Amino acid sequence: MVKKECIFSEGDTVEEVLFSERDRTREQILGVLSRTRDILALPNVVHEILEVTSGKNSSASDLTNIIESDPALTSKILAVANSAYYGFVKKISSISHAVVILGFREIQNIALSMSVLQLFDRKGTVFNEQLWRHSFAVGVGTRMVAGHLGLKLDGKYFVAGLLHDVGKIFLSQYLPDMFGRVLSILEMQDNTYTYHSLEEWIFGLSHSDIGGRLLSSWLFPPEIVNAVSHHHQPSMSEHEPVFSACVHIADLLCSIKGITPLNDQFFLTLDADILPVVAGYREGFGSEDMHRLLAQLDTEIERQSSFVSAFKRT
Ligand SMILES: [Fe+2]
Ligand SMILES: [Fe+2]
Repeated sequence: MVKKECIFSEGDTVEEVLFSERDRTREQILGVLSRTRDILALPNVVHEILEVTSGKNSSASDLTNIIESDPALTSKILAVANSAYYGFVKKISSISHAVVILGFREIQNIALSMSVLQLFDRKGTVFNEQLWRHSFAVGVGTRMVAGHLGLKLDGKYFVAGLLHDVGKIFLSQYLPDMFGRVLSILEMQDNTYTYHSLEEWIFGLSHSDIGGRLLSSWLFPPEIVNAVSHHHQPSMSEHEPVFSACVHIADLLCSIKGITPLNDQFFLTLDADILPVVAGYREGFGSEDMHRLLAQLDTEIERQSSFVSAFKRT
């Protein structure tokens, strides 16, 4: 539950309040993050899936056996595989069939995302519900942007988009007082500070950094960790910056559309340094492309709704 409080007392300057506890707050956040594997443990089956999918000599039957040992996960994966999104005419009735049709990597992505979703509340507060709505929309949007850039479509785009703000989700649910403090200042001030600058000032860490650390501690594939860590500044990404750029652009499109948990849609800015990288995939990428993607987003959210609702049932 995010609690908003008044933190200003007479005589304090905003800067004094913001900076006063920054180092201690940063240490506290890092302390909670270092215990993540105890307090926010992914089920064992997920670690087994990661081991098999990253191993060179693993077979489809190894993966099938692991998933089938978990009946709940089995039925959830089958629900997603049979969603209209994939458009298979014949029903996929077993995990072995799903692995053959969708591939190792896709099954890994589905299982990982579902397990993370289960660790967090998705209801309870308006903020929470809006944040998840935003997250699913950015998941869909990231895949759409990747398609627009001509990248080979892969489940990793949806996963990275879905989990891009997992740092914010973590802060709001595991450090609600600190997070409430940022929201309070955001509401009380006169647009001098953006949400992102407040994070840096108060926490000494950004939610993208926190999200990347979380996913890394769960042993997520490095490319997804990297895309999440750099989703606000993809040009700083040393590895596959175009992947971070897809998340970044989708995040921006959702903010412009008002699909955002915070009233900060005017504060999100495009990382202009990433444009030459993006233009390498789509010649002349610019405002015309942004308008087209913006117009396409609602249709895409509608088109992928069966896939998203199969996920939401988890
Ligand atoms: Fe973000
Ligand atoms: Fe976001």
